[in-house]
Amino acid sequence: MDDLFQNQIGAATRFCAVYGQPIRHSGSPAMHNPALAKLGLDWRYLAFEVSPDALGQAIDGARAMQFVGLNLTVPHKLLAVELVDALDESATTWGAVNTICFEAKGEGGDWTPLGQLAGPPAGEIRAKGHNTDAEAITLALREDLGLSLAGQRVLLLGAGGAGRVAALKLAAEGVAELHLANRTAAKAEALAKEIAERFPQTKATVGYPENTADKIDLLLNATSLGLKPDDALPLDESQFSLANAPAVFDMIYQPAVTPLLAKAADAGCRTANGLGMLLWQGAKALEIWTGQAAPVEVMRAALESHVYGNE
Ligand code: ATR
Repeated sequence: MDDLFQNQIGAATRFCAVYGQPIRHSGSPAMHNPALAKLGLDWRYLAFEVSPDALGQAIDGARAMQFVGLNLTVPHKLLAVELVDALDESATTWGAVNTICFEAKGEGGDWTPLGQLAGPPAGEIRAKGHNTDAEAITLALREDLGLSLAGQRVLLLGAGGAGRVAALKLAAEGVAELHLANRTAAKAEALAKEIAERFPQTKATVGYPENTADKIDLLLNATSLGLKPDDALPLDESQFSLANAPAVFDMIYQPAVTPLLAKAADAGCRTANGLGMLLWQGAKALEIWTGQAAPVEVMRAALESHVYGNE
């Protein structure tokens, strides 16, 4: 009975939320609510269907209601860069916002996350945009595939929103060679140009490695191919053989084993799907809001059970 009472939403309960469209599939509430309980916080994590043209109003509403923070998913991450009051360096660097932390202005002009205040904020509140997606890529690659990226050769499939952040983050981590293969070559070309300007130590080229016998250290799929059962393979096997990649990471996590990952496992590659990225972007967002270490194992178990519970 005590536990039941403690779990009730009350007048002191604080809120965070994820905004997206569509949102009903999101694993974020399932991952965050057990983490909030584990941290002993009287907070709840909600999910709202928000259309792009209402995003500004929805952020304003959360600020007015003193939400602790927000996560943003498709299609809001680029739009939000223009809508928040301040940008963390992570959001400036990667050009996208997936996490908003609401902060209160102190008497000395300093800003404190609302989730780290002892009581209600007195003065001005601002929405500060962060990006935890990029860091999540390197954390997942390190944890799931044991990869540290400096000096490595990577073949990246896809140059859309997710592919662009992955490419830039890999370059920032000091990847030596980045081969960018994308259906629309112009996007890969623009990305290679951006990398040449911002991270010139990385050799970014468009297309598959020149010789089919060339070896790489990591193949990373950032296309959406593999989400649907009858999707084509994102990899053109006439241009690159999985035998030449010791590790394959697919950003897709549903299904758990995409056709690419199944083929890679058959070819003897180490493989991982994108669940670790979802986990780490959430864990890092929670740390921004709370100022505490996230209970990552609680979040991982909750996420796995939410996503794969019935498999
Ligand atoms: P996200 O935010 O998930 O990256 P996106 O920006 O729409 O979404 O990017 C989707 C990626 O999957 C792109 O690299 C896209 O290739 P294009 O840039 O040519 O559009 C890739 N993709 C989607 N459908 C594809 C298909 N049928 N064949 C090949 N690539 C595809």
